[in-house]
This record gives sequence, structure tokens and C-alpha cells, in this order.
Amino acid sequence: MSVATASTVEELRQLARRRLPRAVFDFIDGASDDELTLRWNQDDFNRLAWLPRVLRNVTKRDCSTAILGEVAALPLIVAPTGLAALVWAEADALLATAATSAKVPFTISTSSSVRMEAIRERAPDSRLWFQVYPYKDRDLVRALISRAKAIECQALVLTVDVPILGRRLRDQRNRFTVPLRPTSRLVWDLVRCPTWTRHILTYGVPRMQNFVDGKRSASVTSLAALMTSNMDAGVTWDAIDWIRQQWGGKLVLKGVLRPDDAEQAVRLGVDAVAVSNHGGRQLDGVTSSIEVLPQIVASIAGRAEVYLDGGIRRGSDIAKAIALGATAVMAGRAGLYGVGAGGRAGADRAFAILADELDRCLTLIGCNSAKQLDVSCLLKRE
Ligand SMILES: Cc1cc2nc3c(=O)[nH]c(=O)nc-3n(C[C@H](O)[C@H](O)[C@H](O)COP(=O)(O)O)c2cc1C
Repeated sequence: MSVATASTVEELRQLARRRLPRAVFDFIDGASDDELTLRWNQDDFNRLAWLPRVLRNVTKRDCSTAILGEVAALPLIVAPTGLAALVWAEADALLATAATSAKVPFTISTSSSVRMEAIRERAPDSRLWFQVYPYKDRDLVRALISRAKAIECQALVLTVDVPILGRRLRDQRNRFTVPLRPTSRLVWDLVRCPTWTRHILTYGVPRMQNFVDGKRSASVTSLAALMTSNMDAGVTWDAIDWIRQQWGGKLVLKGVLRPDDAEQAVRLGVDAVAVSNHGGRQLDGVTSSIEVLPQIVASIAGRAEVYLDGGIRRGSDIAKAIALGATAVMAGRAGLYGVGAGGRAGADRAFAILADELDRCLTLIGCNSAKQLDVSCLLKRE
């Protein structure tokens, strides 16, 4: 099997697993503690069965949708993923250009391994969004936001589910740090994974480039240290107003799982809520995103857009989220598996697979467009 012949995101995942050192694959594939939420994110999609309509002329189909006022070819947003260049040199820029070809927005992570300005240079026509955390150091947040404005990001995604970092046991077992620590397993992997090793030797070990010129990051060597030193367990809803003052544009709140929190977010004027458990990487045992989506859609009642984030591995998962009322989905690992399997070609393949599966799903359930999906198309299996 190759990237060109991979026909599912799971096959791209398997290719990435073969190509990458164990610690790197586990960093993207893994989640916190027992990884229950990671599994539920996917399992709960599989508990939803289709109720297709027949004999509806479905010759002309359209998967496009409006996301924050602009048309995207698919109801898909590429989610922010930090340190993506661990899987392929300059992965963030490759994902951004692949997203442009797929005509969907790409979210730059605060922890991206290519500087946000360099991503803009490499992807001049991309519809870029920028993600921030409400760090303790508000000068740092202000500076990041003003750089995001300068590169013309169209939306700011404020991630609010990381007051502290979740405990990722695979990373602990692999003794995963950035820069990578030379364990005997890693040395073996350097031999086993020659393409990956060549990239690292050519481009160096990825760092969180958005911080590299700042005095704050100079002495911080590990991902955990950087994250935990800046994360603010004391942050409250007041942060939204403060962020609003810094960022006049569209604001997305990422990491909401309760209708009352969604309601509060809408009252404070956010433009969209991303129903997300961080791909199962924060508190393990929290609900899957798809399980709580309908309640959140009901509480928001059209006053803001709602994105489903977590567990998207199939085009039919996208369709299920839309049928339950999401405006669009955000996908993190799907793109990372693609780029990990084969760089830009792999990222293109991941988005093409999702697009193709979504189109086939719509056709087979008797819909001409994503807009025709609704809850009557689905049945919950017990
Ligand atoms: C390797 C990796 C890095 C991530 N880094 C970030 C990040 O920097 N900021 C953020 O808000 N979310 C981050 N996330 C979470 C994703 O944005 C998204 O919520 C999650 O991947 C969705 O689940 P999925 O991977 O099943 O699509 C990361 C996820 C992964 C897998």
C-alpha cells in the first residue's frame, strides 16, 4: 500500500505508523490516560446508523458550505496541531497548502513548528485561522494576536480546555520530549525510518517556531515545560472580553462540551463554538464530542456556528455531524496521518478521501447537498 493507493484515513494512519519513529507516531496518535475519550470519539460515530431516502434524483451534488461567511468546498476546517513538523519537515505549511487545494480553512497552532509568517508566505492564498491559549502572560498573547492580524488570519480560535496539560501516558512511556531524547528505541528508529531521519538531519528537530525569537522560549527545552509554564489554571470567562479587545475579528471558542458553557459563550458574543475534547488529549473519560453535539446545537439555537471536533476519520463522520446540526467539523489527526504517511501528497490524499467519502455518503442517503442532512437521516443504535 502507498499514499496513492490508500483508500481510507485508517490506511494513511497505518502508513504513518510504519514511516515514523514510535515516539513520534504515539505523540500524534495517542491521548491521555486510558484513552477512553479517544476511542469514544470514534465509537460514538459508529453508533449512529443511516436511514437513507431512496428515489431522489441525486445526480447533482454539492458538498460546499458557508463557514464564517465564506464558502468552503467541504464542511471541514483543519484543526490546530502543535509540533506537526515532527512527522514531516514543514508539515504545517504542507497542511496549509493542502487545505487551500481542498478549499477549506487551515488553523495555525500557537505551537506550530513553522512560524506563522512563514506559513503565510508558503500559502499566500490560504484561508488561515490562528489558535491561541489564554496564557498567563498576556503580553505574549497580545503579541501573537497582533502577528496573526498582520498575516491576515480570518478567525481566532481560543482554546479553553487546557488549564493544565493532560497526562499522555504513551509520551511518558516513550520518554518523549522535544528536543527528542536519544533513547535506545529512538536510535533503532533512526535506522528503521530513513526518510524521517533524513528530514530531521536536513531541517533540524522541530521547535515551536512562533516563540523561538521571543525571550520566553529561549531557555525552555521541553514541550511540557513550555506549555505548563504558560498555561493559566486561573483563567475565567473574563478572558473572552480581553481577547475581544485584542482581536476585532471572528472568534471561535474551542473546547466546549456543555450547553450552559455554550450559552455563556454566545452571550459573550463568540461567532462559533467548537465542541471539542481536544481529541481525547486532556481529561480522559470526558464525553465524546458527537454525543453532546445535539444538546449544544439546541442551546445555541442558530445564534453562532457550531463545529464538531474529535474523531473525524470518515467522510460519513462529517455527514453525521452536519446531520446533528454542526455547521462544519474540525479534523486534527486525519491530516496529520496523511502528512505523516507522505508529506504534501499524503495531506492531499487525506482531504480527498474525506471529500470523496462525504460525496458518496450524501448520494447513498439521497441528499444533493450537505444542507439537506438532518436528524431524520440518523438512527442511534443502542
Ligand atoms: C498532535 C496534536 C497536536 C495538537 N495541538 C493542538 C494545539 O496546539 N492547539 C489546539 O487547540 N489543539 C491541538 N490539538 C487538538 C486538535 O486541535 C483537535 O482538537 C483534535 O485533534 C481533534 O480530534 P481528532 O484528532 O480526532 O480530529 C492537537 C491534537 C493533536 C493530535
